[in-house]
Amino acid sequence: MKEKLQQMAEQARQTMLEAATETQLQEVRVRYLGKKGELTSLMKGIGSVAPEQRPAMGALLNELKEGLVRLFEQRLHEVREAEIQERLATERIDVTLPGRRRFTGSKHPITLVTEEIVEIFSALGFGVEEGPEIERDFFNFEALNMPKDHPARDMQDTFYVTDDVVLRTHTSPVQIRTMQKHAPPVRVIAPGTVYRRDSDLTHSPMFHQIEGFLVDRKITFGDLKGILTTFLSRFFERSIGVRFRPSFFPFTEPSAEVDIQCVNCSGTGCRVCSQSGWLEILGSGMIDPEVFKSVDYDSEVYTGFAFGMGLERMAMLKYGVDDLRLFFENDLRFLKQF
Ligand code: PHE
Repeated sequence: MKEKLQQMAEQARQTMLEAATETQLQEVRVRYLGKKGELTSLMKGIGSVAPEQRPAMGALLNELKEGLVRLFEQRLHEVREAEIQERLATERIDVTLPGRRRFTGSKHPITLVTEEIVEIFSALGFGVEEGPEIERDFFNFEALNMPKDHPARDMQDTFYVTDDVVLRTHTSPVQIRTMQKHAPPVRVIAPGTVYRRDSDLTHSPMFHQIEGFLVDRKITFGDLKGILTTFLSRFFERSIGVRFRPSFFPFTEPSAEVDIQCVNCSGTGCRVCSQSGWLEILGSGMIDPEVFKSVDYDSEVYTGFAFGMGLERMAMLKYGVDDLRLFFENDLRFLKQF
């Protein structure tokens, strides 16, 4: 009997030592020490043992039980610790791995160029105005000295909304809207989207312009040249050759087309400038007295100049982009470079 008991206790110890998880360990405990466990049952049956053997038997049972309980507690501690170590090992975080990057957007090159031009002119004392893209014929043409039958209207392939409403073909109508609102002096630049029925490799039906104009007493063509020359060398970040060529716009007189020395070849002649050494980049001129009439400015007292430029062209020249379509395709591989 005593031997059998020792054997059973030994087996219980072995199983406890082998148990690798807390669950297994608890199973062993229940099997031997639980309410209906093997050792517990034996203790309950002590009454059937002969009276003279009872004390010795009881002492042995207690001793074995206590030993098992102690072992159980020790193993429980070990198994839990092992489980924690195991989790720490398998769930370890490699803090040297690079973090997940958040993709930050970048500004569109047309936006960048607009902001830069606005900044340069702000420093020269110009304020910013905007006008509607869906525009009345009056502001887009009529007030700019282009009456209904004027041949110059054909130069601008217009999208008509109704007979009297167009998608503005240039930012010049902002001149009229601004001068109607404000008495001279005015010094304004007006960036915005414009539309023309024109679409090929070098023309998009929607593109961007910046208009600039200044009206005050005693403004001369010399002021126009000075402001534009200053602007162009700031924009291209070097002192750049500038050339004023006689031209025609119905709303300026005299008018001039402004060329800069080719930014690609510095004037020696290349593919970008069609071997001419020059790039045409602005339309400009002294505001025609006819325009002042429609905004009630006294052309005997005030004179002014105006200019307009295409922003896609400015961006292409500044960033060396050779395909206009890149600005409208919204390919992130292109846009991310700015
Ligand atoms: N509005 C003209 C155009 O789009 C440019 C321009 C603006 C010319 C102001 C002279 C003065 O072609």
